Amino acid sequence: MATVNENYLKLPGNYLFSTIGKKVREYEAAHPESRIIRLGIGDVTQPIAPSVIEALHRAVDEMGQAETFRGYAPDLGYEFLRETIAEQDYRSRGCDISADEIFVSDGAKSDCSNIQEIFGADNAIAVCDPVYPVYVDSNVMAGRTGTYSSETGTWSDVIYMPCTAENDFVAELPKEAPDLIYLCYPNNPTGASITKERLQAWVDYAIANGAILLYDAAYEAYISDPALPHSIYECKGARGCAIEFRSFSKNAGFTGLRLGFTVIPKELKAGGQALHPLWARRHGTKYNGAPYIIQRAGEAVYSEQGRQEVRQQVAAYMKNASYLRTELLAAGYEVYGGENAPYIWLKTPKGMKSWDFFDYLLEQANVVGTPGAGFGPSGEHYFRLTAFGTYENSVEAIRRIKAL
Ligand code: MLT
Repeated sequence: MATVNENYLKLPGNYLFSTIGKKVREYEAAHPESRIIRLGIGDVTQPIAPSVIEALHRAVDEMGQAETFRGYAPDLGYEFLRETIAEQDYRSRGCDISADEIFVSDGAKSDCSNIQEIFGADNAIAVCDPVYPVYVDSNVMAGRTGTYSSETGTWSDVIYMPCTAENDFVAELPKEAPDLIYLCYPNNPTGASITKERLQAWVDYAIANGAILLYDAAYEAYISDPALPHSIYECKGARGCAIEFRSFSKNAGFTGLRLGFTVIPKELKAGGQALHPLWARRHGTKYNGAPYIIQRAGEAVYSEQGRQEVRQQVAAYMKNASYLRTELLAAGYEVYGGENAPYIWLKTPKGMKSWDFFDYLLEQANVVGTPGAGFGPSGEHYFRLTAFGTYENSVEAIRRIKAL
């Protein structure tokens, strides 16, 4: 008799953004007259940049000609894209990363959730709290997290590293001994950033303790402070202890096109075993590569014109972030983030619980955000707003929030 993977049955509720989507759809169905402003999920609103669209068109035309048609993509991704990434994202910043250490994929979410497959089932994971739910949920599915307490909202076998206003939302080095440590900077959901010194301390800790850092740098394009690191490989020794995930979703609006990549240095080992060949084996077996046309679109993001265009998009979102942050502060809210990240992390007013504030904002202002508690217990009494909306909607959302 077939049975199911019982770990799936342990997952409490649905994926956070599916739950929010359902709640909003139900509200909309009951109040068809409402004009809802969505600042919940971090989905972009600006169209794909013109130079990227041109590259897409060219690639589509190539697919229609026998001479230029492409079938399966190479396992790790097309050389033209991996070379460009290695040069522009890494070597130009002094990071020693080569094209054959880059694995092109359909996005950082898939890679962040799949990477745990190449590690032992008994590896202890450590996550920031609050945290992007994908890191925890994917480990629940793999049976690595123990039992769930609905009282505390935590898993018995997960090491939670509280990120609070007191530590600037940057986790302290854990006293326990995790094997895998998930870090995300600029941070989703708190909008916090990490200094090079603090990131170096993580690298030193991982080397000293034989841990692997799983570094999600999906929001690096939003860093405006020149002193902040864009990649973990800017830290000394990171090649020996870190995997990095990157995305085209937020820096170039590819949430619908889907493209990302993962970097695994050749010398990176766990328990004496190199990780690069394991991920290559997994990639080759379970994945047939991002589509050619999308990889060409990704390459165009790095062209001179492409870089200029996506920089303007990022600047427009950061204008929203700055507006949301300034206006909320002026309205008396306690506000974090929004300076080197597209997320605003605010304390709910009058000690309201985050899901209560979600309902209140949806019903009274028709504004959707993300309840902090959905990201972990330390997110309770916090609320996330994204800067990925339009400027007009950001202004209107603030007008409505101020009028409450
Ligand atoms: C978020 O809102 O946290 C992100 O958009 C989710 C994602 O990138 O998968």
